[in-house]
Amino acid sequence: VDVPDKEVQAIYDLALEVARKAGVLIREAFVKEKSVETKDSEADLVTETDQAVEKFVHDMIKAKYPDHKFIGEETFAETGQKCELTDEPTWIIDPIDGTTNFVHRVQEVSFSLGVTINKKPVIGIVYAPVKEEMFTARLGQGAFCNDQRLKANSITELKKSLGIVEGGSARDPAVVQDKITNIHSILKNCHGFRAYGSCAINLCHVAAGRGDFYVEYGVHIWDFIAGVLIAQEAGASVCDPEGGELSLLRRRLLCACTPELIVQIPPILTHLDMGSD
Ligand code: IPD
Ligand code: CA
Ligand code: CA
Ligand code: CA
Repeated sequence: VDVPDKEVQAIYDLALEVARKAGVLIREAFVKEKSVETKDSEADLVTETDQAVEKFVHDMIKAKYPDHKFIGEETFAETGQKCELTDEPTWIIDPIDGTTNFVHRVQEVSFSLGVTINKKPVIGIVYAPVKEEMFTARLGQGAFCNDQRLKANSITELKKSLGIVEGGSARDPAVVQDKITNIHSILKNCHGFRAYGSCAINLCHVAAGRGDFYVEYGVHIWDFIAGVLIAQEAGASVCDPEGGELSLLRRRLLCACTPELIVQIPPILTHLDMGSD
């Protein structure tokens, strides 16, 4: 599919407006009482704000671009559909990335929006409305936080790096055990690890030089599509945790600030297969 630059600019303008408005909804709800339900496990949470933001954003996008494709976390949770990525312009939304933080009033919550054309991310926006950080990237044009250009760190040695990991929401004992084994291995091989509770924000942290690598098994395309472009545009590398090319539907991801660092990480990890979207 051929989309002229002018059209990509118009899509970007709408994406920014959508993110700002979604951010207002999230920020207003952040301090209020929440009604919380669970999905795949007792730790897989969803609130009425997740659903309301997704519907609001979906309707806003469809009003302007009825033919564009839409992939959203809560729409997929409701319909149980398989996720299909085509060459068409596709808006990929996570209405709240960091729902557990949102429920527990931890400020690391974000709205994540990525647009793919020909199955490649061309626009990435991650808005953390409580901290008022707007991360943006367009393919080939760099990454920014509140209009300041981002540059990932230049660390090349694993033992001098700071990692980012997550526990995730899967509670299958074998998966939990493998994740703990990986955290143990990361702890032994570098300065330490952090877990901010939002995949999108984790990727923005690597983009902003607030961490050197991030690895997670169990993430979905809506968690990482925007953050991956932001990290890459800030100079970071991404791949599959086993070292091959990142698969957008394979539910696992490795990102590191330099190509030298990224190759040192797969050998220290136990690789989990979490299925596909
Ligand atoms: C989750 C967050 C979390 C990550 C999980 C994701 P959600 O997304 O990104 O950091 O560990 O794998 O599912 O459910 O808060 O949108
Ligand atoms: Ca979720
Ligand atoms: Ca998410
Ligand atoms: Ca979410």
